[in-house]
Amino acid sequence: MTGALDPERIVRLEEDAVVVLDQRRLPDELSELRCRDAAELADAIRVLAVRGAPAIGVAAAYGMALAAATAADLDEAYETLAASRPTAVNLRWALDEMRADPSRERARRIHADEVERCRRMGAHAAELMPPSARILTHCNAGGLATGGYGSAVGAIRAAAERGGVAHVWVDETRPLLQGARLTAFELEALGIPHAVIVDGAAASRMAAGEVDVVVTGADRIARNGDTANKIGTYGLAVLARYHAIPFVIVAPTSTIDPAAEDGAAIPIEERDGAEVTGRFPARNPAFDVTPGELISAIVTEEGVHRAPYAASLPAPVSVR
Ligand code: MRU
Repeated sequence: MTGALDPERIVRLEEDAVVVLDQRRLPDELSELRCRDAAELADAIRVLAVRGAPAIGVAAAYGMALAAATAADLDEAYETLAASRPTAVNLRWALDEMRADPSRERARRIHADEVERCRRMGAHAAELMPPSARILTHCNAGGLATGGYGSAVGAIRAAAERGGVAHVWVDETRPLLQGARLTAFELEALGIPHAVIVDGAAASRMAAGEVDVVVTGADRIARNGDTANKIGTYGLAVLARYHAIPFVIVAPTSTIDPAAEDGAAIPIEERDGAEVTGRFPARNPAFDVTPGELISAIVTEEGVHRAPYAASLPAPVSVR
């Protein structure tokens, strides 16, 4: 049995199924879900058994390879998977990458590439961390969200490997607690000092001078740097600006959408209000858009990008 953060454990392709670590059950239970066709995989993505922008792209790539290997209708598989979640552009990026060559080898290369991108952007982002950094992060942008290593958590890992992380504040991230359940689980496994805080506690930690930098991942980045990420990220960026704290996004180029001129073009997923409360009417937007002007730097595998982002952001890089 490999560790829970092993890329093969997070998502893999077997002969007759895409197998994902069921993230709904973490941290209490390490159980796997076998998806035997694109429809089952799309369900697993929809219910967040597998989640995080790069990880759902990787899973969808495996779904296309499985469809090809089982002689299923590829167009139908593409459409079914593409419709599973709207905001993370990595999903469509990976599906488009697979359309030309829906082989198992290509899907595995997409997975390996995403993990390698994380390592590269982690190294770039670690350069931005002050010594003994006290970092605040939101949601889960760790290996579970990327198929291995992590984007924002990858940056924290890389900084910690250099001895540069004193403490991580982990926003619990309502309503589904990706921070409290998944990021805390990963940081514990990595031996990085951390504490979970309720989302509303971020402001007072900043005011108390206990946060040196805010680091998050992204689900879709528009050409001008406007960035969609888990709901609550925009508020953190406003708080960070007020307290003069750097706000850094770490994401692979597969998260950049050259077709989106600005944040207004990014579709925001609305999820079931029952995830918020079973008792009263609720509104449950899963993401918000942080304006590029509030972002100190966007870090990809290509390096550290600064405003004006329309000029500095690279194009998505294809499979090697
Ligand atoms: O709804 P989720 O859990 O799939 O949310 C996506 C995310 O994990 C975050 O928004 C993350 O910061 C970007 S993906 C590395």
